[in-house]
Amino acid sequence: MKAVFGFSILLALTGCTTSNTSNRVESLLNQMTLREKIGQMNQYSVGPELTGPEGAQNDRYSQFENGEVGSAINLIGHKDIRKLQELVVEKSRLGIPLVFAHDVIHGYKTIFPIPLAESCSWDLQAIEKSARIAAKEAAADGQNWTFAPMVDISRDPRWGRVMEGAGEDPYWGSLVAAARVRGFQGEDLSDPLTLASCAKHFAGYGFAESGKDYNSALIGRNDLRNFVLPPFKSANNANTATFMNSFNDIDGVPATGNKWLVNDVLRKEWMFDGVLVSDWNSVGELVNHGVVKDRAEASALALKAGTDMDMEGANFIDNLEGLVLNGSLPESLIDDAVRRILHLKQNLGLLDDPYRYLDSKREQEIVMHSQHLEASLDMARKSIVLLKNENALLPLKDVSSVAVIGPLAKDKDAPIGSWRAQGKSNSAVSFHEGLVNKLGNKVQIAYAEGCKLSIGPNNFLNKLKIEQEDRSGFPGALAVAKKSDVVFMVLGEPAFMSGEARSRSDIGLPGLQLELLQEVYKVNENIVLVLMNGRPLCIPWEEGNIPAILETWHLGSRAGDAIADVIVGDYNPSGKLTMSFPRSEGQIPIYYNYRNTGRPENDNDLVFYQHHMDVDRTPLFPFGHGLSYTTFDYSNLAVRTMDNELEITVDVANTGERQGEEVVMLYVRDKVASVSRPVLELKGVRKILVDPGGQKTVKFALTKEDLSFYNVLEEFVFEPGAFEISVGTSSTDLLTETVQFN
Ligand code: NOJ
Repeated sequence: MKAVFGFSILLALTGCTTSNTSNRVESLLNQMTLREKIGQMNQYSVGPELTGPEGAQNDRYSQFENGEVGSAINLIGHKDIRKLQELVVEKSRLGIPLVFAHDVIHGYKTIFPIPLAESCSWDLQAIEKSARIAAKEAAADGQNWTFAPMVDISRDPRWGRVMEGAGEDPYWGSLVAAARVRGFQGEDLSDPLTLASCAKHFAGYGFAESGKDYNSALIGRNDLRNFVLPPFKSANNANTATFMNSFNDIDGVPATGNKWLVNDVLRKEWMFDGVLVSDWNSVGELVNHGVVKDRAEASALALKAGTDMDMEGANFIDNLEGLVLNGSLPESLIDDAVRRILHLKQNLGLLDDPYRYLDSKREQEIVMHSQHLEASLDMARKSIVLLKNENALLPLKDVSSVAVIGPLAKDKDAPIGSWRAQGKSNSAVSFHEGLVNKLGNKVQIAYAEGCKLSIGPNNFLNKLKIEQEDRSGFPGALAVAKKSDVVFMVLGEPAFMSGEARSRSDIGLPGLQLELLQEVYKVNENIVLVLMNGRPLCIPWEEGNIPAILETWHLGSRAGDAIADVIVGDYNPSGKLTMSFPRSEGQIPIYYNYRNTGRPENDNDLVFYQHHMDVDRTPLFPFGHGLSYTTFDYSNLAVRTMDNELEITVDVANTGERQGEEVVMLYVRDKVASVSRPVLELKGVRKILVDPGGQKTVKFALTKEDLSFYNVLEEFVFEPGAFEISVGTSSTDLLTETVQFN
């Protein structure tokens, strides 16, 4: 009986026209009991894939049947999703379909480079395409909603989640955020090949103190407004359907219970009318934060602070009904949240057809399509950053033998990276495979593992143990190094050394890898260090001694092919860093857009200035750094003041011998303002292709809005005066002009 009733309501709803979306949601809302409403606000992780600590032990099956769950996460595969959807639609009184969510971060089954790597491509079209393909594959397998993009700005490479973001810069982070939202959501959310996106983690999560995940964040309002919030605002402007709370507190106020942040900024100021989901039990964790005494108070606080859906914690379903019934909470707050959730379901087309995303033919045609693997290869090549290339050691030329050494050289798993959705373990093209495929038998390739990197389970749920003792592979490595023209040392971090809960205090090469590298260096200095890692590393010895260093991050399914293309010169690298590499962990946080302070750092020998006594003041590799196989020369920077904007032009010449792409960067410095402004702020980027001997004139425009910032009253203002305008190849290699702009 129930089932028939469920369907009949659904069919009645289906008759409405799209313009009647609100009526439809309202009429559904009117039929719901209080318990059913709160059920819509309840989200459970289902199935064996946990992406956090195990949650409440409620009778979940009955809750699904009774319409007391509105969303399921981590259920994989259209067949299982259909079963659960059928249960809910057919058994629950109103048959309101679930919305299915998953962390689709950098690909679904076809895995793309980790987002930090992609951000180093400086190619928004490619980034959008990568998200598009991830959405297509996930949606074809039954998912409706991804918990991405993560748009947290971070200045701390100890924080493992930097792999999920776009680096340290709010301008670039904002453009990437919008591109990824567009990619996931496409033109129309009801298209069964799109996903609702989720801008996370709102807010300040990337500023976790000491880079320790889940830690408190100390962020002043000015920094919050000017550095942390812009990418979220941009995601909102790009119409992201949802946001997610963050775990951290900011200055003592946990984000999940922060009324100012959510109600005032996100909802009122930015007019976000989509769904705000908590992070994994971040509602219940308000008790641990010490701002409420129990889960009931936590639920009330989170709801009042604007949280619509409770992920995995069962706090809302266990507590909100009682709170409304005893008069502590107005039902209208619940109605508002449910309205937003039903609108999301409506926009995804789920109220029209709960099975819209479930089509095995579509899944077979789309997931792991060969074009997706090609796109992943393209993105991987673009994401590689050539950090150092002394004596043009790369691309390889005139060699007859190479050695490939290191625990990651044959590793098919590390490139898949953390947050791999349904990317299969050990499924990437390894470095070794890529090189062998590329070089064939033209060059002799000797291999030695050298040392192990991790011991025990290497997965999302376990702590990784790093091998520290076993040097038995060293002699073999030295032997192959000695007899080879060039040595490739493939070193770095395994996949699960970055990502959630993977904070490190020492961000050098883990385990015995540096020691191995130093031993190999004693017998053959002709080394290309190929790094695979999920965060900037601290590698001062390597930078000082190894002639060539290639940052390949965790590059996804086609990693080895992409790296081989760069190594032989079939692809000319053009990636540039979006996060600074420190010389020592003591420099962290280190970032290019710092303020000058009253005692600015400088190169003189006087002591009473800002500095560390024991380390050079500069980063090891600065923001924007990245080499090419050709060279570029910048000249003729011209800044013209027009009525309402500045027009900036610069000539960029390719002075090398091969065609290359260059990322041209525009920075500004507001010389005098009511609050101290950064010494440099990125404000424009152009990626250009220039032929050898050729030259291009690159043009930018800056409006007053581009030069505005949040003042102490939190107003977004333009303050007239002198601005330094700089254009160049990285944050430390610039031509500069000063102009007056009133
Ligand atoms: C916790 C993470 O912080 C969040 O980013 C993720 O989306 C959820 N777990 C769900 O897996």
